[in-house]
Amino acid sequence: MLEINGLVSHYGRIQALKGIDLAIAEGELVALVGANGAGKTTLLRCLSGVQPVTGGGIRFEGADLTRLPAERRVQLGIAQVPEGRQVFGPLSVEDNLRLGAYRRKGPDVAADLDRMYAMFPILKEKRALPAGTLSGGQQQMLAIARALMSHPRLLLLDEPSMGLAPLLVAEIFATIQALKDSGTTIFLVEQNAYAALAIADRGYVLETGTVVMHAAGADLLADQRVKEAYLGI
Ligand SMILES: Nc1ncnc2c1ncn2[C@@H]1O[C@H](COP(=O)(O)OP(=O)(O)O)[C@@H](O)[C@H]1O
Ligand SMILES: [Mg+2]
Repeated sequence: MLEINGLVSHYGRIQALKGIDLAIAEGELVALVGANGAGKTTLLRCLSGVQPVTGGGIRFEGADLTRLPAERRVQLGIAQVPEGRQVFGPLSVEDNLRLGAYRRKGPDVAADLDRMYAMFPILKEKRALPAGTLSGGQQQMLAIARALMSHPRLLLLDEPSMGLAPLLVAEIFATIQALKDSGTTIFLVEQNAYAALAIADRGYVLETGTVVMHAAGADLLADQRVKEAYLGI
């Protein structure tokens, strides 16, 4: 579904991505793990089209994405949940969800809202409240649900567990697992390597802009180098 070949990206003269090769098949949950500053967010931003690519290319379902405007990529079905759960605090939970479907109108939006409320009952309970009053975990659920309102073919998640208490982390990863089980293709970027690799079909390890390992999630979890560098065991 997604094919990244030799992807390079710069901030000024600093090369943040140094030639990334990565692929995601339809229906897969692929994790990208790596330390702070490794280039994970930069890669996601290249995929969603808000970060310039300076070398290599990106193909999505056969089409060349590399220089397509961000807006076109959303239309093709790529939805990103950015780092730091950026919900619109003063707007109600429901209005935040509606924004995820701004491209469409009519009865199917109501059906999508129902689908999201079935998946996230807490959002239904709080649908009239300003999103800013939700807890961190609830805001993360809202950010994910908002992205799902666009019916993405590929969901990009940037550190969904960041800053959440352990119980909420478990809940978010259970949600991601359920999304995968329902057929959504997911690219999950995480510093929390253990939790991400535990639910991933396959994983990639990123170090200072280079993929240093890729294998089945379970194999990476069992790998001695991964254990020492990322799992603290
Ligand atoms: N806006 C920016 N301007 C300059 N350098 C940046 C910017 N954003 C990120 N970087 C640098 O690019 C590298 C990768 O950052 P990032 O993709 O945010 O990593 P990660 O998401 O893995 O923590 C880091 O060295 C970081 O300092
Ligand atoms: Mg990041």
